[in-house]
Amino acid sequence: MKPTAAGLLLAGLAVATASPTTTCSTNSSTPSAPKGKWFDRFVVIVLENTNRGTTFGDPYFLNLTNMGMYLDNYHGTTHPSQPNYITMVTNSIAAGVFNDDDHNTTEYSIIDLMEPKGVTWKAYMEGYSPLANGECNPVSEIKETLYVRKHNPFMSFDNIRNNTRRCQNIVNAEQHFAKDVALGAGAPNYMYYSPNLDNDAHNTNISFAAKDIQYLVDTMLNNKEFMKGTMILITFDENMIYLNTNYGQPNAIYSLLLGNDTIKCYSCVDQQYYNHFTQLVTLENNWNLGNIPNGGGWDTFWRPFGQLRSKTDDICAYAPCSEYPDGKSPPPADADWNDQNY
Ligand SMILES: *[C@@H]1O[C@H](CO)[C@@H](O)[C@H](O)[C@H]1NC(C)=O
Ligand SMILES: *[C@@H]1O[C@H](CO)[C@@H](O)[C@H](O)[C@H]1NC(C)=O
Ligand SMILES: *[C@@H]1O[C@H](CO)[C@@H](O)[C@H](O)[C@H]1NC(C)=O
Ligand SMILES: *[C@@H]1O[C@H](CO)[C@@H](O)[C@H](O)[C@H]1NC(C)=O
Ligand SMILES: *[C@@H]1O[C@H](CO)[C@@H](O)[C@H](O)[C@H]1NC(C)=O
Ligand SMILES: *[C@@H]1O[C@H](CO)[C@@H](O)[C@H](O)[C@H]1NC(C)=O
Repeated sequence: MKPTAAGLLLAGLAVATASPTTTCSTNSSTPSAPKGKWFDRFVVIVLENTNRGTTFGDPYFLNLTNMGMYLDNYHGTTHPSQPNYITMVTNSIAAGVFNDDDHNTTEYSIIDLMEPKGVTWKAYMEGYSPLANGECNPVSEIKETLYVRKHNPFMSFDNIRNNTRRCQNIVNAEQHFAKDVALGAGAPNYMYYSPNLDNDAHNTNISFAAKDIQYLVDTMLNNKEFMKGTMILITFDENMIYLNTNYGQPNAIYSLLLGNDTIKCYSCVDQQYYNHFTQLVTLENNWNLGNIPNGGGWDTFWRPFGQLRSKTDDICAYAPCSEYPDGKSPPPADADWNDQNY
């Protein structure tokens, strides 16, 4: 499927209103973040290379579905890792980045739309160390700390990597994440989190990764001020489609939304089709950011998450029947995921 000609035209028009040349100003009077349609803060945590069924096999990840909205039809966009991360933040197929090598791209990203509107952001990278004065460290990997650049999509964009002020928003997760959550309402509006190669299950397994994720989730959920208007997405870059035994299968991954102020129901399942572009489109719609200039126009093609809570909706254990594409309410969640009709 490709974006329509109309979609591309819209993307072109957006250049006039969201000119990226105005985004590099260090003017301290940037507007305060506009109120979001569904949320005032979006946190995404990205894990690695695990089939959906394997993730459900872990008691922690299974349990977590009782607290939020499970996205039953969410898919990685591609293989290998890096382009999946990049499609979360820009509107072309990975900004021309199709492998795990270091790339520099002149394309634009969601950051170019957020900054002029006063939407604040930070990228938390486990094991990462910036250069002096917070300059971007473009290194491919830091072996001792298990940081890899291919899981840090912001580093590929020239207008981020070459900009000290923007680089200062890409931080070492261990030093900054809990501290920023403790700011409560003052935490950034967009928080992008990549665990290291052990904690994201890349070099380990899903049970190992569960420990880090539980720490991160608990840190957030235990802070009521932080959780006000906050939506958390826990997702994976891709499943194990690259193995011969899985090759050709859909890139289905475990993805879960948490945050009762922002989703229509908890302990429930949303059956609509989503992929990593959905994140981008949801962010654009939430803050009325327009579309990313140039690129592939994919942010005019996909739709945002479909079961998010507007200010007038009530939270309930299950979405209203009418809101499910199949007209059915999902059965109650219990310890047996097979009951959940997917
Ligand atoms: C910052 O922006 C405001 C309003 O947009 C403007 O009045 C002011 O002169 C700018 N300051 C600097 C230092 O650019
Ligand atoms: C599942 O969640 C409940 C309630 O939040 C908690 O008491 C229990 O320890 C959790 N179990 C696992 C395996 O995480
Ligand atoms: C959402 O609300 C339900 C009902 O109070 C609760 O069981 C669940 O843990 C909440 N989820 C989160 C992420 O706080
Ligand atoms: C990307 O740009 C950096 C400087 O920001 C440079 O050191 C590096 O060699 C470039 N990499 C590629 C693959 O062009
Ligand atoms: C970014 O920096 C690299 C080298 O440091 C340079 O080759 C490239 O032209 C710069 N790009 C931009 C957009 O400034
Ligand atoms: C996951 O890895 C740990 C070692 O880190 C091991 O003890 C455990 O058995 C593994 N679990 C699974 C399900 O493979």
